Amino acid sequence: MDAQGVVIFVWLMTSPWCCAGEGAAGKASDANKLSIVPPGYLQELAPWPQVLNHDGSPLMINFSLKVNAIMETDDKQTSVILDSFFRVTWNDWRLKYPEAEESGKGSGGGGGGGDEEVRHTIVNPVLLEEVWLPDPYIFIVRDINTLRLLLKDVRGVLLYSDGRLFVSILTKIHLGCSAKFSRFPFDEQECRLAIYSYMYEAPALEMRWLPEGLVVDPRVKDQLTNFDYTFTIGNTSSHTCPCYKCIPPEAPCVYATLVLTRKVLGHLLSTFLPSGLFVAVSYASLFWPADVIPGRTVLVITSLLTLVSMHTGVRQSSPETSYIKAVDVWMITCIVMSALMLFEYGLVLFIKKQQKLPAPPVQEEPPSRDTHISQSTKSIKAAFELSARREAGKVAPLQVKLNTWQSAHRYWKTLKVDRVEHIFKVLAPTVFLLFNLVYWPYYLVY
Ligand SMILES: *[C@@H]1O[C@H](CO)[C@@H](O)[C@H](O)[C@H]1NC(C)=O
Ligand SMILES: *[C@@H]1O[C@H](CO)[C@@H](O)[C@H](O)[C@H]1NC(C)=O
Repeated sequence: MDAQGVVIFVWLMTSPWCCAGEGAAGKASDANKLSIVPPGYLQELAPWPQVLNHDGSPLMINFSLKVNAIMETDDKQTSVILDSFFRVTWNDWRLKYPEAEESGKGSGGGGGGGDEEVRHTIVNPVLLEEVWLPDPYIFIVRDINTLRLLLKDVRGVLLYSDGRLFVSILTKIHLGCSAKFSRFPFDEQECRLAIYSYMYEAPALEMRWLPEGLVVDPRVKDQLTNFDYTFTIGNTSSHTCPCYKCIPPEAPCVYATLVLTRKVLGHLLSTFLPSGLFVAVSYASLFWPADVIPGRTVLVITSLLTLVSMHTGVRQSSPETSYIKAVDVWMITCIVMSALMLFEYGLVLFIKKQQKLPAPPVQEEPPSRDTHISQSTKSIKAAFELSARREAGKVAPLQVKLNTWQSAHRYWKTLKVDRVEHIFKVLAPTVFLLFNLVYWPYYLVY
């Protein structure tokens, strides 16, 4: 009671017409407020329309949101701050329009409806402390701040002559978004702004968007650095939303969905293009002569290390997840491709070393008596004899091992370094190309 008196006093002192008409004007406004709320008004009771016109029409609460700015927060988890005018309007038929104010501050509205013209007047927000208020809340919101003028909250109240109350508040809504980063940086984050009624039930109370329910300032596009956005009103044909394990399970609600699509170009230029180039650089090492050991090693190792440190940098600047993201898939493939070039060079050096080694002694079979038999017949015969002996279990495993070792050595000897290099020159770009053919359609189109 006391606090209210102080608020009214402060309002009187700060209102523009305060000191012009001295106390008289103040008294008039006070009387005006009193005249809006009739005696016997019960603040606890909602202005159910049934009471007035005995039909089953629900109590309508209409909303609109005018978004002036969408600010990204610097969290790695996406969330945005909507700087917006949040407007609520409902009809309280019990309120009396102050006819005395009509000639004064009240301005005409309605647009030429003759004697049915709907007028409105600006009333002091203090009125809200004496009338019934709906109980909307925003589902899963991180924070809501209302801004303050120096002496009071930034909010405005309009009273229409048909009993409609229009409340507008300047708010900062800190809205959390989905955190699905498996497609990062080709991801889309969805932030849902759902306004529910806390206590009232679905058929009796209905929530709607006003005709211009959601307006976003076109300059918002320039404020978002990392995202493109679409902000759309939710399903307008249904006026309830399922409410998980609530009583009752459906609640009156309106919602809007803000979809943030990450801008990819920056990531393409700063991550994908350089890492692709480093893969190309390590691929280019295949065209270096194999004898230039330091040159080629430096080339491959440098690009490998650069890719690894680039991946570390990307991980630090992207959202932390315990699962793999699209950018990780790319970076890891680049690292593997680059490492492959290093292994290939190791293989080439190994082959070169094998070819310099003397061959292990090969046991020559003593010339048998069937030397006169032609070569092909002899080999067929040998094969036949070998299989016969193997069946009889006469061939020692050691001998077989020796034979494979010999043949492996012979294989390494015959394997030309040029051949290996050639295979890799074809294989590496093919593998990388195939990877690209799968990667880009998967993340960009599908
Ligand atoms: C709310 O919106 C509905 C439908 O758009 C309309 O019929 C109703 O009159 C509005 N109510 C108020 C108080 O604005
Ligand atoms: C919108 O709501 C109606 C009625 O509940 C429902 O039939 C329709 O499938 C919904 N549309 C979407 C896109 O959710």
